[in-house]
Amino acid sequence: MHVAEVAPRGLFITFEGIDGAGKSSHIDTMAAHLRAAGRRVMVTREPGGTTLAERLRGELLNTPMDALTEVLLVFAARRDHLTQAIEPALAAGTTVLCDRFTDSTFAYQGAGRGFDTGVLQQLESWVQSDLQPDLTLWFDISPEQAAQRLSTARSPDRFEQLDAAFFHRVRRGYELRAGSHAERFVRIDAGLDREAVATQVAATLRARGW
Ligand code: TYD
Repeated sequence: MHVAEVAPRGLFITFEGIDGAGKSSHIDTMAAHLRAAGRRVMVTREPGGTTLAERLRGELLNTPMDALTEVLLVFAARRDHLTQAIEPALAAGTTVLCDRFTDSTFAYQGAGRGFDTGVLQQLESWVQSDLQPDLTLWFDISPEQAAQRLSTARSPDRFEQLDAAFFHRVRRGYELRAGSHAERFVRIDAGLDREAVATQVAATLRARGW
């Protein structure tokens, strides 16, 4: 009897950190590494990743709005991204590398803006059921060093314009999430130079046999 082959589920890996932590430059390197190891890889980002979610991203980054509106739009974008892109890819065995995910919402909207984390938890389970990343790389850096890096880069978006106290709270938010989701969080010391950061990322993959 012929039995249809079911592809093993793909890995879901997310990248987190305050603005200026430098995570984005390591995502493509990891994608290349995983492809060389024989995996099919999709690189995506949040907010964004689908036509609708990218439109919502434009509003989120540029249009002033109240905290609840911001949270609802972030999760609306996430829902579309999950149903249209992430879930189908994982089900087909594709590894998904996502630049930011729900930990960003807990760090920025929760810890940064002081939005009720109980409501965030409710939305999280509503929007993504029990889906959690297999691995989250947290690029941790001091807000002062991150600001220095950003000042030499492009013009800031709505979040990047926030003050140092905000980013201290966001960093603390990541620390709390890393504590409550220790099984998937790996802290990367992003204050080091690019090579040293890349070495930590590579070691994290190697430790998992990926
Ligand atoms: P990012 O993609 O890191 O920006 P850039 O491409 O400019 O480096 O993230 C965009 C911004 O969105 C960032 O400041 C964090 C914010 N954000 C939230 O506030 N909540 C969220 O849930 C997500 C996913 C992002």
